Amino acid sequence: MDTAVLSTGTATNSADPKAAPIAPSATDPLWWRSAVIYQIYIRSFADGNGDGTGDLAGVRSRLSYLRDLGVDAIWFTPWYKSPLADGGYDVEDYFGIDPSFGDLEQAEALIREALALGIRTIIDIVPNHISDQHPWFKAALASPPGSPERERFWFRPGRGTNGDEMPNHWVSNFQGDTWTRTTNPDGTPGEWYLHLFTPEQPDLNWNHPDVRTLHEDVLRFWFDRGVAGVRIDSAALLIKDPELPEVPEDAKPGEHPNVDRDEVHDVYRAWRAIADSYPGSRVLVGEVWMPDTERFAKYLREDEMHTAFNFDFMARPWDADQLRESIDSMLAAHAPVGAPSTWVLSNHDVTRPVTRYGREDTSFAFSTKRFHTPTDLALGMRRARAAALLSAALPGSLYVYQGDELGLPEAESIPLESLQDPMHFRSEGVDPGRDGCRVPLPWSGAEPPYGFTPEGASSAPWLPQPADWANLTVEAEAGNSGSMLSLYRTALSIRRSHPALGDGELTWLDGDGFGPESGVLAFSRGLGFVSVTNLSGAPVELPSYTRLLLASTPLEDGLLPSDSSAWLRTQH
Ligand code: GLC
Repeated sequence: MDTAVLSTGTATNSADPKAAPIAPSATDPLWWRSAVIYQIYIRSFADGNGDGTGDLAGVRSRLSYLRDLGVDAIWFTPWYKSPLADGGYDVEDYFGIDPSFGDLEQAEALIREALALGIRTIIDIVPNHISDQHPWFKAALASPPGSPERERFWFRPGRGTNGDEMPNHWVSNFQGDTWTRTTNPDGTPGEWYLHLFTPEQPDLNWNHPDVRTLHEDVLRFWFDRGVAGVRIDSAALLIKDPELPEVPEDAKPGEHPNVDRDEVHDVYRAWRAIADSYPGSRVLVGEVWMPDTERFAKYLREDEMHTAFNFDFMARPWDADQLRESIDSMLAAHAPVGAPSTWVLSNHDVTRPVTRYGREDTSFAFSTKRFHTPTDLALGMRRARAAALLSAALPGSLYVYQGDELGLPEAESIPLESLQDPMHFRSEGVDPGRDGCRVPLPWSGAEPPYGFTPEGASSAPWLPQPADWANLTVEAEAGNSGSMLSLYRTALSIRRSHPALGDGELTWLDGDGFGPESGVLAFSRGLGFVSVTNLSGAPVELPSYTRLLLASTPLEDGLLPSDSSAWLRTQH
């Protein structure tokens, strides 16, 4: 937690960040167990060159903002060369930066400069699929059926008399089909290829040695450049049953043909060995969507990943029973493997908390996202503030998605013609898609582009920003002690300085008006720190305390109002 021990002396003391060493040091090998990790969706963070798209120059110019916010690491969504068919999760070159974001030299400078400020860099690795513009896939399309070039993917002849039926009926994670038919050089219909996401993201065949070698090289390439860890995209999907059978209705754990197959763990064991061969704890963080918590925890065995996103907590409704059950079950699932839990309120794929918590259904599911859902944003903001303190007090590491620290709502009035997300298009317009949580950040000023692009920029932000975000800019919130930004800054500073926060134990304070049946979640973290969240409909008394450290809503006559959290010091 303490950045003073983060890196090898010169990094934190250096006046010239460029002179700082590139590798995180080994002095705090457990940094990841308690870290606060800020997610940067690079297209939307800050635009340095005025083309309307966020870039590395923009991030570099705002590093002091992240230092002042109090984060320990940043996680970048993919920054590689990409046609951006799925926001960069369609990688054309794993060893190069997309020119719209900058270049490799800038990435290296950024990693060094961030580290000099005490901030480690985590990057996104996308192993399940590749861009259809990657040389491997182009070569596969240019080669005949049965050729070695096609073996790196899942090409199959179609079924039916003319081969015009798909090889199977797997459903895409983005809805719709998972197979696209190719055209032979002579113009006749050819084989089909598998894509669990869009047709621009063909799935790789992880039984092929080239595929394994490529990704191991990718890891080394970026670890050599000083990245402190990788977030592994779609981590449970890599291995497919080579027979490609239909999905059985009652598939038992491990029997699904394309999710969570046992062989996938070999991949992560190999990756862990590579990570462990570097100094300074290079971490593997899995994107593992898995309702079965025992299967989930298998990814966190000591020779596999370090942590994985806790999506169970993120998807639960604003309800004391539900959140308590999620916290307990996730802590219990992590305990046997000795891994810390992560706490995540949102990311670039899901509805912003301020919006979600202001709705009748406060849970999150991709399948229920709809346009024009009635929302009480004031209520959502109040609950999102309470949720921020609750999640920051829980044991483990914490993720903050850019803009959540400003309390941005989902942008719901983006004109249809500006929407870009394939999830929207593949649902035939029923799902609003994920653009609403990806709108460029408001930094300053009273109207778009709110300082996202530099003065005199040639282009408008790549997604239009709402006209009513003047009070949600960094500039406006920094000067307002009641803002979400002020709440986050104070909370993260307390979290950093309080020895009981971050990794460790939690003890519920049940009874005496606390506990899920009373709608109040109260727990202590070691000696002297108590967090209380009131999800009941009425103000509640707090346990005895010596000092109110922070509250998401001002106390009323000494009581904690509903939909609020408080952090208490309970003894000196
Ligand atoms: C992950 C990413 C998401 C992306 C998908 C396909 O779920 O978070 O943004 O669309 O993988 O790569």
